[in-house]
Amino acid sequence: MKGIILHGGHGTRLRPLTHTGPKQLIKIANKPMSQYVLEDLRDAGIIDIAIIIGDVYPEKVKEFYGNGKKFGVNLTYIYQNKPHGIAHAISLCKDFIGENKFVVYLGDNILRTGLLSYVQKFESSSKEAQILLAEVENPSAFGVVKIKDNKILHIIEKPKEPPSNFAVIGVYFLTPKIFKIIKQLKPSWRGELEITEALQLLMDSGFELDHDYVTGWWKDTGTPNDILHANKLILESMSIEIKNTDGIFIGKNCIIDSESKIIGPVIIDDNCVISSSIIGPYVSIGKNSFLKNCQIKNSIIMDNCIIDTPIKIINSIIADETEINSSESKESTYLLGERSKIML
Ligand code: G1P
Repeated sequence: MKGIILHGGHGTRLRPLTHTGPKQLIKIANKPMSQYVLEDLRDAGIIDIAIIIGDVYPEKVKEFYGNGKKFGVNLTYIYQNKPHGIAHAISLCKDFIGENKFVVYLGDNILRTGLLSYVQKFESSSKEAQILLAEVENPSAFGVVKIKDNKILHIIEKPKEPPSNFAVIGVYFLTPKIFKIIKQLKPSWRGELEITEALQLLMDSGFELDHDYVTGWWKDTGTPNDILHANKLILESMSIEIKNTDGIFIGKNCIIDSESKIIGPVIIDDNCVISSSIIGPYVSIGKNSFLKNCQIKNSIIMDNCIIDTPIKIINSIIADETEINSSESKESTYLLGERSKIML
């Protein structure tokens, strides 16, 4: 089986973070979100993977993943010049896929359980497509299924009146049959070739759609709040998986003075200096960052940041090389792009 990771899109809801790179490279618990995706594919035995890159700094994706060797996969890059939709991105991969079954994984979806059992099921299945469903509170924001007697009857993109609370998550198991189907699609109301419409057409052509319900959590990281929530979920899961009871993960060469308090779950990358600060819970700190006199809760601070302030930073995302220097001590929430400077 082969894999396709979608790594394009403009990430407008994540600006200013996406002014300097694709959203899928935003780090959550100190790892780009698309790296979780790539590792899920690899851990399920899928090592021939195409990454679809778009027009937001595609060179940064290539620079990070290279030919894939250091991640244990073989990578091919395919350009999608405009974000014309998931089905359009898939149509660009016809030659890469050949006669193989394949998995399409959106680079901004994160799944707790990995893919192995679903991949094994699809490998031995005679169905032309298999999807994963998750129950959500806001089905209108997703592709949604109408389901009866455990059979999918209908699948519809972002319905105003959802037929159920079961969203189709961004992991699709497909066969080359889908390429012919995609050729019949017309752009939707949002100007995209929709994968949900392709799946509906596949059913209309007489093929049954298989499905599973995801166990564990799943997160589509479209907004800053989603990213902070994913950060919390990943840090909690890491603490359980690694059986680290205090949930504190500290990298190499960090200096944390005795005046500081770390409240897990927290991850701190290499070469950080933390002095007279209270960090946590649910905080990720990137490498080479310097924090002094701070209180930080439920936030992501990326690489090479300098934060020297008694401001209580909560629910914030602060990108690389940002500097905050202030003597104020109020509580604040920030969404700061790379190289921001706050001097109060
Ligand atoms: C896309 C799909 C939608 C699916 C969602 C999962 O939505 O179109 O069917 O439920 O991914 O993340 P988009 O992210 O383009 O709004």
